[in-house]
Amino acid sequence: MSQLVPKPSDTAASRVRTAVLISGTGSNMVALLEAAQAADYPADIQLVISNRPNAKGLAKAEALGVTAICVNHRSFETRAGFEDVLDATLREHDIDFVVCAGFMRVLTSEFVGKWSQKLINIHPSLLPKYKGLHTHQRALEAKDTEHGCTVHWVSEGVDEGEVIAQSSLHIHAEDTADSLAKRVQVLEHGLYPDALRIAVTGR
Ligand code: GAR
Repeated sequence: MSQLVPKPSDTAASRVRTAVLISGTGSNMVALLEAAQAADYPADIQLVISNRPNAKGLAKAEALGVTAICVNHRSFETRAGFEDVLDATLREHDIDFVVCAGFMRVLTSEFVGKWSQKLINIHPSLLPKYKGLHTHQRALEAKDTEHGCTVHWVSEGVDEGEVIAQSSLHIHAEDTADSLAKRVQVLEHGLYPDALRIAVTGR
């Protein structure tokens, strides 16, 4: 005699096991964790990893009930040694998708290749403008009228992967690098959850 066995909900079963990599405050990570609390959000954030032991985001992740681990890059002699443990930690937790959110380590082509099409980053500029650091100051010095943030696939070149989504604002005459950093972060917190949804679902 056959019996109908209740299945876990399709939504829960199909959520993508995701990790967030951070180095500091973790405000984007918190925005992602809050979005992922919705049962129909397609990414299930299982793990937060910081490369810095004093990253404030670690305690924030724990307070939100997510496993938070430090893999201190200073404990390793080589970048490859650090990345091997990073990769092993992700795999131990059955992670399928990795989100860099203020993760301030350049990843090697070996690591990027292992996580190809499963690794995204947020950058505080309208890429391809202002790859690298000091993006707000550089936008001001160039007398740009528009600035913003970009979520992109991580590729071998730093801040060069294909763009997934961008959000922009007008630069005001009274803006400073600090005021722009704060205003861009507000945009980031809105953009990243939407961009992660697009990245894992393809729409
Ligand atoms: C964010 O503004 C992010 O765009 C930037 O670091 C900040 C992290 O803030 N990332 C980079 O500059 C990467 N090149 P958060 O820790 O509060 O999310």
